Amino acid sequence: MSPDAIRALPKAELHVHLEGTVDSNTVLDLAARHDVEPPAATAAAIDKWYRFDGFPMFLDRYFTVLGLLRDPDDFALIAERYLRRSHDDGVVHVEFHVSACGHIVENGRAWAPIHDGIVRGCAAAAAKTGISWGLIPDISPHLPADACRTAIGEVLAHSTEHLVAIGMGGPADTWSTDDFSPIYADAASVGIPGVAHAGEHGGPEEVRFALEHFSPVRIQHGIGAAQDIALLDELADLGIPCDVCPGSNVALAAVPDMASHPLPLMLERGVTVTLGSDDPPMFQTTLLDEYRTAAELCGLDDEGLRTLAENSLRASLAPDVVKNRWG
Ligand code: ADE
Ligand code: ZN
Repeated sequence: MSPDAIRALPKAELHVHLEGTVDSNTVLDLAARHDVEPPAATAAAIDKWYRFDGFPMFLDRYFTVLGLLRDPDDFALIAERYLRRSHDDGVVHVEFHVSACGHIVENGRAWAPIHDGIVRGCAAAAAKTGISWGLIPDISPHLPADACRTAIGEVLAHSTEHLVAIGMGGPADTWSTDDFSPIYADAASVGIPGVAHAGEHGGPEEVRFALEHFSPVRIQHGIGAAQDIALLDELADLGIPCDVCPGSNVALAAVPDMASHPLPLMLERGVTVTLGSDDPPMFQTTLLDEYRTAAELCGLDDEGLRTLAENSLRASLAPDVVKNRWG
């Protein structure tokens, strides 16, 4: 399929972190706005700084970017910029993960102004382009579960109108030592489903743990499940989509190289896959790049690519009234 035809496919992006959409020029803008030293002096140097030897180095820099996001205007700016860029790429709907616990617990910020800034930016982009959007405030499991629970409580108390799910990003190594499941139960009690990153750097046991403890309606990445065919078949049978980001997986060395990526196996076993860009400028990718990569890696014809785009629309957690607008 030609690049223009991929662009023209109506599609949703279900796995992208709002804070991971901050490109190098925007890092400079934010640093100037807050009168602080940027992490590197030029856009080219920040693009180099956006190169990682693995997940810990990435998380460290991701949290540096979080620290530059302070005022409602910052959040409005990045949300509007990304939605407008997405619209240009034929995206009709975006579900933004937002590192809510990072901002609230780690950086000591209140949720209401952050939320309201994001909503303002998204609404401005929607008014100009017609794109739809939803928010997935994330738990950060490197922080204590109690503190995350309080923070997500603050999130749920402010407004649930634009929340399509509660999510979980960050490293998975504290999952079994601290109990994050009550936070998902809190969200479920007010009608908000859960999604979770799982099997990004970890194996099938991590995906099984997430399924058992968090009851996610979608899994971000899930590539670790491919080490266990029975688990892939279970995901396919359960109809739990995996929001896969091959460019991210290579950039963070979750797979040794693209040729080793398990996306072809996931598709072969019938797992519902949607493609995401995760943290696009940080990984030198875009959603369109991910479609092109998937086509090459899996030998997808036009129908195969159309199926991935349709999966993304179907797996979206947007309400039906919004889904009906996509035609
Ligand atoms: N937060 C932002 N990007 C992430 C990723 N790739 N994995 C887990 N948490 C994240
Ligand atoms: Zn992610």
